[in-house]
Amino acid sequence: MKPSQIEMDRFAARTQRSKAQLELGKKHFPLGVTSNFRFYPPHPIYVREARGARLWDLDGNEYLDHNMCFGVMMTGHANPIVLEAVAEQVKKGTMYGMPYELEQKLGAELQDRFPVLELLRYANSGTEATMHALRVARGFTGREKVIKMEGAYHGVHDTALVSYKPPLKEAGDPKRPTRVPASGGIPAGTSSNTVPCTMNDLEALENCFKDNPGQIAAMIVEPIMMNIGICEPDPGYYQAALELCHKHGALFIFDEVKTGVKLARGGACEYFKLRPDLITLGKAIGGGFPLAAFGGRRDVMDVLTKGKVFHAGTYNANTVGIAAGYAALTKVFTPEVYKRHATLNQALIDGYNERLKKHGVLGYAAGAGCNGTVMFTEKVVKNYRDWLSIHAEMWKTWFYGLLARGVIPQAYAWDEQWTFSVAHTDADVAFHLAKLDELIPALQKAQELPRE
Ligand SMILES: Cc1ncc(COP(=O)(O)O)c(C=O)c1O
Repeated sequence: MKPSQIEMDRFAARTQRSKAQLELGKKHFPLGVTSNFRFYPPHPIYVREARGARLWDLDGNEYLDHNMCFGVMMTGHANPIVLEAVAEQVKKGTMYGMPYELEQKLGAELQDRFPVLELLRYANSGTEATMHALRVARGFTGREKVIKMEGAYHGVHDTALVSYKPPLKEAGDPKRPTRVPASGGIPAGTSSNTVPCTMNDLEALENCFKDNPGQIAAMIVEPIMMNIGICEPDPGYYQAALELCHKHGALFIFDEVKTGVKLARGGACEYFKLRPDLITLGKAIGGGFPLAAFGGRRDVMDVLTKGKVFHAGTYNANTVGIAAGYAALTKVFTPEVYKRHATLNQALIDGYNERLKKHGVLGYAAGAGCNGTVMFTEKVVKNYRDWLSIHAEMWKTWFYGLLARGVIPQAYAWDEQWTFSVAHTDADVAFHLAKLDELIPALQKAQELPRE
């Protein structure tokens, strides 16, 4: 039996209630769940409750959680400071559909962290934030096409859901990747406006502009690609890309939904010392409640002021998300937290790399800020096609092996990464590494099997 199957069976044996709950879920929802990303075989963990860095499933198993809701929960689960702020706010109303003071205070805090945000607007999800940012860019430039990196994820709207994880046989020449819609139901007229590009390849980027002269409204990038594990830009790549965009009259957008207030206090803009034209924020900025934002250059965002582009939303700046986000950003995510996360994350990364090297296990661990992962492949991943070389059997052995031992290492699958919250400790890193030690023989066996 494959090592991944042994570990999956071990996980399944202790999560029988989750299995039964999935069967019930199938009566209500496609795949039994409410987002495609929440399903994985043989069944996902059904959560009973979560607190701090810990989560309990229906069978009563306790887990050290590093999924943290796909990186949202940098506050830790049920953070008391955030809960108190929300409890105070809900007494005064949850939705006004009218302006109020706290939305401005959070706006000022975001502008302080991200000076690029000369003007901003709120939304409720990363999908909305990138959708609105792209509409603003299109409205400002009067152009329709958008460059995105092959393998990058920017949410589920029609422009974004193209060349997300294209099969290699359909992906074409890396210097001019073929556009591959990632879902049925996307009108060809829409997806034809998405221009896929290969990350870290300036020649490929130049080709995007050459092939679509005067038509590119914007280039949108995940500053560190965190939907193919961890994939960092080459030094100078973004500066050159930004200059190329401006040379061609296009805008440069950082999609900071994952990096946002996590990579550094001022996100990737601070980390890479770059000033994009627009940025998008989501996930962690809401302190564990739904909140997103987009914004940037005043002259660009002024297309909203002038009524050239329309933006609205009943739930925008709902008081709960704003109160939670404000408490998280001003009271929880202190400068010390960023230092501590860097140290904790590095300790886990180093612990992985020492063990992989010592035991001759294929792969490397990498990360930045409070995010990291292990990439089961030999070469440092620089783009989506490098990422395809990841040894999935090893990854599955690792994922299910850790689940069965009380660690949720990250969300399923090998395009995700772990997250540290303010509740994670040195002892958690030691626990995680001790569980990894138990798995080394299984990983060594998995490594011998051919890649899928
Ligand atoms: C970089 C990036 N942008 C946008 C999104 C979409 O965010 P949401 O799921 O809140 O719509 C995600 C979600 O994972 C993301 O990773």
